[in-house]
Amino acid sequence: MFMIMGEGRSMVHSFSLVDAQLNKPTWHKYHGYQQGKYLLPNDDIEQGREAIQYDGTQLVMGGALYHSPIGPSLRKVLDIGTGLGTWAIDMGDHFPEAKVLGLDLSPIQPSYVPSNVDFQVDDVELDWVIDSDWDFIHMRNVARFLKKPSEVLERAFQHLQPGGWVEMQDVSMDYYSDDGTLTDDCPIHEWFRLMHTIWPNYDIAKRGGQVMEDIGYVNVHSKAVGLPVGPWPKDPEQRTVGLRMATAFLVILETCSALLPQDQRPADIEVLSARIRETLRNNKIHKMTKICAWMGQKPLDG
Ligand SMILES: C[S@@+](CC[C@H](N)C(=O)[O-])C[C@H]1O[C@@H](n2cnc3c(N)ncnc32)[C@H](O)[C@@H]1O
Repeated sequence: MFMIMGEGRSMVHSFSLVDAQLNKPTWHKYHGYQQGKYLLPNDDIEQGREAIQYDGTQLVMGGALYHSPIGPSLRKVLDIGTGLGTWAIDMGDHFPEAKVLGLDLSPIQPSYVPSNVDFQVDDVELDWVIDSDWDFIHMRNVARFLKKPSEVLERAFQHLQPGGWVEMQDVSMDYYSDDGTLTDDCPIHEWFRLMHTIWPNYDIAKRGGQVMEDIGYVNVHSKAVGLPVGPWPKDPEQRTVGLRMATAFLVILETCSALLPQDQRPADIEVLSARIRETLRNNKIHKMTKICAWMGQKPLDG
């Protein structure tokens, strides 16, 4: 069981790793289309995690939905791996003249959305049967789960207008602290090393720029924004972000630990999980991660 307290409320969630030998735990629900392709569930628990993480990320980015230098005359926006579709909906509200399309393996998006926003169930690792004149293609926290993010970025290149932008945002797995309170022996590092076995592109936040340049994108650049994790910051807004991120981490800790293949799972995985929960609660450890964005443009003569 884990419990995280904050904002006068408590969020309690309990689970057990007893059935952890199963590849996909039976207490979660997964996507039906292209079954087995994506690791994480699409049930209420995962949807709650996604919503909390989105909220925390938006707070730390000051509400900014993107970093690419796109103009107000944006016409067509594509969101790959849209999940709950919150980013697509926010973009639709922000650019009422633009058409926004979100693609995902799971039909978990709401039905009541702005009239300029649409969703489609699709596997972005198969051929894209959509228009080829997008002004902006975005994906957030998707690349690490793809088999070949380079192929998806290549398809994005083919489906962008000349001069159009792609933006790939990913929360980094490299936790750190600005003041040395998070040490090398932190159990969070140990857990992320274990995740390398099940997240095929765990390091995409670092090498996304090179992948874009190899495809032919120009003006490739990056921006990283620090994200506190845990309720340690004194600043109320940063503390809210930290709570959101820690809560999201607690959920993913359970979902992904259970997915580790038998031969990769340490016997003491539950002890490791307990140490991580303790670290997340410990306000003396000033845990930080980053949301890293890579931006690239299709050449005007492309
Ligand atoms: C971690 S969630 C991120 C959701 C959303 N972009 C966000 O930042 O909140 C990853 C999403 O990518 C979707 N996804 C993963 N692989 C996909 C694929 N091959 N084609 C389409 N969607 C995919 C999953 O279904 C999931 O909704």
